[in-house]
Amino acid sequence: MSSNFVMPKQIISGAGALNDAKDVFKKAGKKALIVSGKVMEKVGNVAKVTKILDELSIEYAIYTDITGEPTDVMIEGGLKVYKEENCDFLIGLGGGSPLDSMKAIAALVTNPGKIPDYMGKIITNEVPPMIAIPTTAGTGSEATWFTIITDSEKDIKMLLKGPVLMPDVAIIDYTFTLTSPKSVTAAPGLDALTHAIEGYTSRKAQLLTDTFAVSAVKRIFKYLPIAYNDGSNEEAREQMALAALEAGVVINNSSVTIVHGMSRPIGALFHVPHGMSNAMLMKECFSFALDGAYERFADLGRAIKVAAETDSDKEAAEKFLDAVENICKVCEIPTLEEYGVDREKFFASVDKMADDALASGSPGNTIKDVTKDDVLKIYDALWK
Ligand SMILES: NC(=O)c1ccc[n+]([C@@H]2O[C@H](COP(=O)([O-])OP(=O)(O)OC[C@H]3O[C@@H](n4cnc5c(N)ncnc54)[C@H](O)[C@@H]3O)[C@@H](O)[C@H]2O)c1
Ligand SMILES: [Fe+2]
Repeated sequence: MSSNFVMPKQIISGAGALNDAKDVFKKAGKKALIVSGKVMEKVGNVAKVTKILDELSIEYAIYTDITGEPTDVMIEGGLKVYKEENCDFLIGLGGGSPLDSMKAIAALVTNPGKIPDYMGKIITNEVPPMIAIPTTAGTGSEATWFTIITDSEKDIKMLLKGPVLMPDVAIIDYTFTLTSPKSVTAAPGLDALTHAIEGYTSRKAQLLTDTFAVSAVKRIFKYLPIAYNDGSNEEAREQMALAALEAGVVINNSSVTIVHGMSRPIGALFHVPHGMSNAMLMKECFSFALDGAYERFADLGRAIKVAAETDSDKEAAEKFLDAVENICKVCEIPTLEEYGVDREKFFASVDKMADDALASGSPGNTIKDVTKDDVLKIYDALWK
């Protein structure tokens, strides 16, 4: 059996990567749409990009209306600016939200209709050049052909995809992440961990993604607690930025599984940040998945050295699960209740959530079969 493996064409990484990317901007086009958020403007990150574009005499328009996890309405707003300003390429600057928004806006430049029209379909028409500059570590969106946009009418977080959505260039300058507060270190960092574990334990895992997944898991267990406790630690920030990229490569080529499937409905209905809702789910979802893939979870336990070579696969897998639970505690991940989700509202929607989770297709990638009853039991366990 053969496997497909796709990454961005070019990755420029390390401190100063933005400054070293001048040729990339020059080749990309004449006028950029910078897709970002107000926080990025406030902390001076947008100015860092416009300074370089000014130096290169490249024109730009700025769209900073990505106020949270993106909705179809925000995407329509960005598309309008792109067209009115006659832009010919896009720069996404920020966490997964602006990067996903950049992809969705780019998609609508050349693909007819509206974003919800593409749910369950493959986006195929070539899109304008896209440069992704992540400032969280992170979703790995810089290395995936996915974009996750909320359908604001149906309250569904849609997973949209197509090979054309892969950014042409990823600029991984970890210095952007130095301004991340603790909450924006923890949630995206645990999102990356979820990607690496799910990709490694997915039915679609392949030998090439295994390499990236193990590497990401090792970096995250070593460096996320350091970055969380000391945001100014540059070594930890750099390692986390690379881990997020690696984990993005993993999910692009081997897919996410049950955690992401069950996490998106929580995000759509209760606005829990994506990485945090993954982290809330990891223990219960992986406890469920464990006996379908002891060997795979055991590999990860041995890779981070919480399990010994002499442990059985079952023991090593269980030790890995304990380590996952522990890193979520270190990152102070609250329960749904502590986060303020209303229990009654949650259970009033749980049937729709389970249907949406399964309809996304992600739970089906779990090595163990997942039924609606399993999903409902896991949602229930989050309150115990
Ligand atoms: N496309 C993909 O492959 C993929 C994969 C996983 C997740 N996602 C999506 O990504 C989104 C989440 O992205 P995220 O977790 O990166 O968060 P985010 O982009 O929503 O950002 C969260 C908050 O952190 C702030 N922020 C970002 N970088 C900062 C920095 N350096 N300093 C200070 N503040 C900063 C932002 O302004 C925002 O307020 C979700 O919608 C999720 O579904 C996409
Ligand atoms: Fe994710």
